[in-house]
Amino acid sequence: MNYAEQLLAAKRDFLVPCVYHFYQRPPVLVRGEGAYLFDSEGRRYLDCYSGVTVVSAGHSNPEILDAAIKQLRQLQHTTTIYLTEPMLDLARAIAELAPAPLRRSFFCASGSEANEGALLLATLATGRHECIYLREGLHGRTKWAMSVTGLDMWRTDPNPLLTAHAVPGPRHPDSLLALEHLLRRETIAAVIAEPIQGNGGIIVPPDHYWPELRRLCDRYGTLLIADEIQTAWNRTGCWFATQHWQVVPDIVTVAKALGNGFPIAAYLTSDALASHYTRPGASTFGGNLVSCRAALATLAFHKRHRLGERSTVLGNYLFGQLLELQNRRPEIAEVRGRGLMIGIALCDGANAPAATLTDQVLEAMKDAGFLLGKTGPGRNVLTLMPPLVVEKEALDSVVTALDQILQSVR
Ligand SMILES: Cc1ncc(COP(=O)(O)O)c(C=O)c1O
Repeated sequence: MNYAEQLLAAKRDFLVPCVYHFYQRPPVLVRGEGAYLFDSEGRRYLDCYSGVTVVSAGHSNPEILDAAIKQLRQLQHTTTIYLTEPMLDLARAIAELAPAPLRRSFFCASGSEANEGALLLATLATGRHECIYLREGLHGRTKWAMSVTGLDMWRTDPNPLLTAHAVPGPRHPDSLLALEHLLRRETIAAVIAEPIQGNGGIIVPPDHYWPELRRLCDRYGTLLIADEIQTAWNRTGCWFATQHWQVVPDIVTVAKALGNGFPIAAYLTSDALASHYTRPGASTFGGNLVSCRAALATLAFHKRHRLGERSTVLGNYLFGQLLELQNRRPEIAEVRGRGLMIGIALCDGANAPAATLTDQVLEAMKDAGFLLGKTGPGRNVLTLMPPLVVEKEALDSVVTALDQILQSVR
């Protein structure tokens, strides 16, 4: 058995079987640097998925590591019941970046937890206990977060909460009508949605969608929760993707790229809404000192290196290159996305999702040195979300490899 096979055997023996992996022949990843990953045999891969939009500032970013290691040597953990500075510095830094009036943070350790917290706050603030979510959306693995996850593949719970109501996704012509129909009951605490659906296959809503969502929520006294767990921190070219439509949600949830690989998540809200949560609330790992220092260094790195502009410029460039490729390759049904959050939908001649072809392309791209993501209800959307520090030439090499591989696997 080679090293990868030994690890696969251990995985089969010791992990819950739901923990799946990409690839028939997965590499064992042992090192990361900038936009690149290296396997146990020394092969280099361009990381085009960033550990699902996490390492936007690049793997093993020395500035972020230095900040974390300094804190690690000084004091690693206390929890929120003690006074420490890093969590407050981070809350202040986030308040300066987030649109007014979102100036309060509640820190926790994962995206699922942030969404649970956001939904709890919405029920406390409105006195209502129902919510609306979009089909093909994904919000996490915990009970409530999974109950508002519309994407069938990730909706494992056989008894999801019945107080969560689904409406069609943002590109469906009846989405807003169905939403308003439910809002009229005036029992809905919150609508939760991703500004751009990530696992749903990089679904960008039409430009009127979020402003209309905001208007409808205001009209019926319902709170708007934006799950920016994938989209925040410059992934789409802005600190928050809802800024593309000048919409300010009532609550925003964030995680992933905030810590550039250190676990940290939060929900952000206004003074007025936060004032409804006064009973004690704590999270053991929320506001962890090391994660907060890493997050502060991450935000500083984003600012100094203008990663938002970089995401827009490189994203537009890559998008253009992929549209050209689409003209040559009939398998590409659609290219969609914003900034460096791009999906390439592969379909067969009858325009049905080409899931097998997508797997073949994913595997061949890996063998050629490119790790892409895969999303969408039909599992046919190749996803390009590289670290924002990626170089333009590296993006050219992905497009060239994809062109060649689409020709050869046909
Ligand atoms: C949009 C979105 N929300 C929530 C989550 C759940 O986050 P976590 O895995 O940190 O619990 C994810 C994870 O991929 C996500 O993409």
